[in-house]
Amino acid sequence: MPTQSQSPHLPFGENKQADWYGKDILSVKQFSREDLEYVFGVAHEMRGMVERVGTFDLLKGKILANLFYEPSTRTSSSFTAAMERLGGSVIPINEVKYSSVSKGESLADTVRTLECYADVIVLRHPETGAAAIAAKAAKKPVLNAGDGVGEHPTQALLDAFTIFEELGVGQIDGMTVTMLGDLKYGRTVHSLARLLSLYKVKLNYVSPEILRMPKEVMEEVAAKGIPQAEYTALEKVLPETDVLYVTRVQKERFENLEDYEKVRGAYVIDPEIMKAAKQEMIVMHPLPRVGEISPDFDDDPRAAYFRQMEYGLYVRMALLAMVLGKA
Ligand code: ASP
Ligand code: CP
Repeated sequence: MPTQSQSPHLPFGENKQADWYGKDILSVKQFSREDLEYVFGVAHEMRGMVERVGTFDLLKGKILANLFYEPSTRTSSSFTAAMERLGGSVIPINEVKYSSVSKGESLADTVRTLECYADVIVLRHPETGAAAIAAKAAKKPVLNAGDGVGEHPTQALLDAFTIFEELGVGQIDGMTVTMLGDLKYGRTVHSLARLLSLYKVKLNYVSPEILRMPKEVMEEVAAKGIPQAEYTALEKVLPETDVLYVTRVQKERFENLEDYEKVRGAYVIDPEIMKAAKQEMIVMHPLPRVGEISPDFDDDPRAAYFRQMEYGLYVRMALLAMVLGKA
């Protein structure tokens, strides 16, 4: 929980300091509304610093181990950029097949090894719960960069930051957020639905029948008193939507590729469909996209997905500074 003490390291003029020093970030369930305000305040300052000076020495001498057992472009490179913009450095293990994992080394031993050399570990892994296992093995902070179909908490934090920056901090209560696509296997929406349940939002889930939001997530969100509704067609809810969060159908998670073929291309956002949406709303996507949003829509001011990935840099800078005791 946040403490009221003033950080000796904090160059950001914040009074409230969340005590994240040395902590793992495994799930969005660790965050309160107050924590989010703190993270977004620091991220906002990070954005200003990057715009003004580019790189600065807040984490000079600190080392990040970037351990990826699954492909990544944004998460991996934004954590690298975040660490380097803060003056630190990175051990990149982006392709575990060239590491001793290919000789059969366990996740726990790999993590124990990396923490001898690094101050913080970022992990992406195909199994749900892998980040928690790694965190148990490690004394140093482990940040979950996606654990199978489980969670992607740093993505949800950057998603919420995007909503705040784009639509205004005071605006989130009362918003309607529509999640579209693969809600069963999409870890980003599992984390985001949980995180947004801290606010008075309305959540719509639009998916093919076989890709519905897991019951477990819906039950957790319902327990917070958040209204949720499920649909298979977008038309009905698009006009009321303030944030349309589009996801890729996660081909790599399907047991049966025939099922994938049935649902791929189920929804495609394009300028014609978006005529039915408000002018004051945003379209988000964690990316990569593989056809769910037509490139013809990219120039529309409501298309926030490229800005969204830039916000990821600032949020990850904030998180690294927090767990390393410098924010
Ligand atoms: N990049 C996101 C993830 O790793 C979304 C996706 O891959 O579709 O979960
Ligand atoms: N959004 C996201 O996690 O992207 P990558 O898979 O490219 O890291």
